[in-house]
Amino acid sequence: MTVLDSALDTGGPDYEVHRSAMLEKLAALDAEHAKALAGGGEKYTARHRGRGKLLARERIELLVDPDSPFLELSPLAAWGSTYPVGASLVTGIGVVEGVECLITANDPTVRGGASNPWTLKKALRANEIAYANRLPVISLVESGGADLPSQKEIFIPGGALFRDLTRLSAAGIPTVAVVFGNSTAGGAYVPGMSDHTVMIEDRSKVFLGGPPLVRMATGEESDDESLGGAAMHARVSGLADHYAVDEADAIRQARRIVARLNHRKAHPDPVAAEPPKHDPEELLGIVPGDLKTPFDPREVIARIVDGSDFDEFKPLYGPSLATGWARLHGYPVGILANAQGVLFSAESQKAAQFIQLANQRDIPLLFLHNTTGYMVGKEYEQGGIIKHGAMMINAVSNSKVPHLSVLMGASYGAGHYGMCGRAYDPRFLFAWPSAKSAVMGPQQLAGVLSIVARASAAAKGQPYDEEADAGLRALVEAQIESESLPVFLSGLLYDDGVIDPRDTRTVLGLCLSAIHTAPVEGARGGFGVFRM
Ligand code: COA
Repeated sequence: MTVLDSALDTGGPDYEVHRSAMLEKLAALDAEHAKALAGGGEKYTARHRGRGKLLARERIELLVDPDSPFLELSPLAAWGSTYPVGASLVTGIGVVEGVECLITANDPTVRGGASNPWTLKKALRANEIAYANRLPVISLVESGGADLPSQKEIFIPGGALFRDLTRLSAAGIPTVAVVFGNSTAGGAYVPGMSDHTVMIEDRSKVFLGGPPLVRMATGEESDDESLGGAAMHARVSGLADHYAVDEADAIRQARRIVARLNHRKAHPDPVAAEPPKHDPEELLGIVPGDLKTPFDPREVIARIVDGSDFDEFKPLYGPSLATGWARLHGYPVGILANAQGVLFSAESQKAAQFIQLANQRDIPLLFLHNTTGYMVGKEYEQGGIIKHGAMMINAVSNSKVPHLSVLMGASYGAGHYGMCGRAYDPRFLFAWPSAKSAVMGPQQLAGVLSIVARASAAAKGQPYDEEADAGLRALVEAQIESESLPVFLSGLLYDDGVIDPRDTRTVLGLCLSAIHTAPVEGARGGFGVFRM
């Protein structure tokens, strides 16, 4: 009885319009992903191959179990910045010898694999994911260290990378470094701080300072090999635990290390799950191009959860937010999904209650975003919308079960916070190409600015230039619109990736599996004061 029906008219004109708009956005997204895949471009890729080396993603492919998926994270990092898309680093979750690991690989075809400010942000996010989910970290290293022209932005905060490695180790989360090439200066602390190291004959170069720097500092004459070659580190310094003869051998040895980690998941894998009753392909045709038009998130839920089975909680109360229980790839989840865009007091209270229930039962929460925020206006202010929204934000902030967020459509204003936006530490956050997120909609924001400017001019007794106002509004609208798009926000690392709606179930399943490596324990109390 709790299996969801679908009212989606797949033969109707709306469906086709929504679907083609989504396919267009996906094609544009593919073009951006292609930039990350291209790394440093043809010239540097050819040079790298000419040196007999594998590309970053090829190294990862050899490392993970055959035919197993790799969930790449933050592929669009640095989009819209002056640095190449992807930020010269590949990060993601893959299975090595049956163990889910957080894998990072420098892309040496992009400025020698040097770390720019976006590389750093992406690497720190990867460490955060490893720590929260207790995933072993495998670093595939080949980097020119700090991107020297941007050193002021990375040198001081970049110390966190090495701090994280040892904190992971201290928490019993294994760390493995495989050095394929340069790992100099600060980079030397990646193998230096890792539990296990693999170095490659005639390839690995791990030193605090190369020959020119040593000459400058002490006058000593030296060479790469004696300062930091694999043979030296394996036989003399002892920094290399494993000595590999080539890249394939290094990857084989890394796999053996993981096989011997005895790293156990906190929760066993669930039993095989029933697929949704409704076709996930149809997820393309649900979100309207104009996000002001509401859509029923149950149509989405019906296409991502096991057997399309959704036990709704309080369906008649606060109907603008659907809450309920389901399973996803066998894992129990509590779902909160915006149904009509706006969050009112009843929705906020319902959410706070539902989040507490999930915490009592140790059930992870999935937030499906399509909200324009909390309701404004006299009636709602007098009805206590602030304190009710605060209740929801309190519950989200202090909830201890893992949270997953998917931005399907709008995610505006404090609604983004209440629905577990980025600042609320969801374990993973993904956006669909149809998503938009900002403090408010572009028209509203431009309108507010115009009203404020008009009032300011009036207060000073100055005339208001209507023509300039119209121009400014159009400009602001265009700017806010472009800044609210998922590719732009992904570039800023405000999500873990923009995904094809059809992959939502798979992506969330991979995340839930990774999440269950660490114990899932809800908060039994420990919430802030709920203002009643
Ligand atoms: N910062 C900024 N740009 C860097 C860089 C760095 N740390 N390392 C390399 N690059 C750039 C190079 O200038 C070059 O740019 P170009 O092709 O536009 O001229 C490009 O990346 C490729 O570098 P290249 O030296 O041709 O590649 P390589 O594969 O032969 O050598 C390194 C790679 C990393 C060994 C070498 O570039 C190097 O020694 N870099 C400096 C390392 C260092 O001392 N870092 C200190 C960090 S604290």
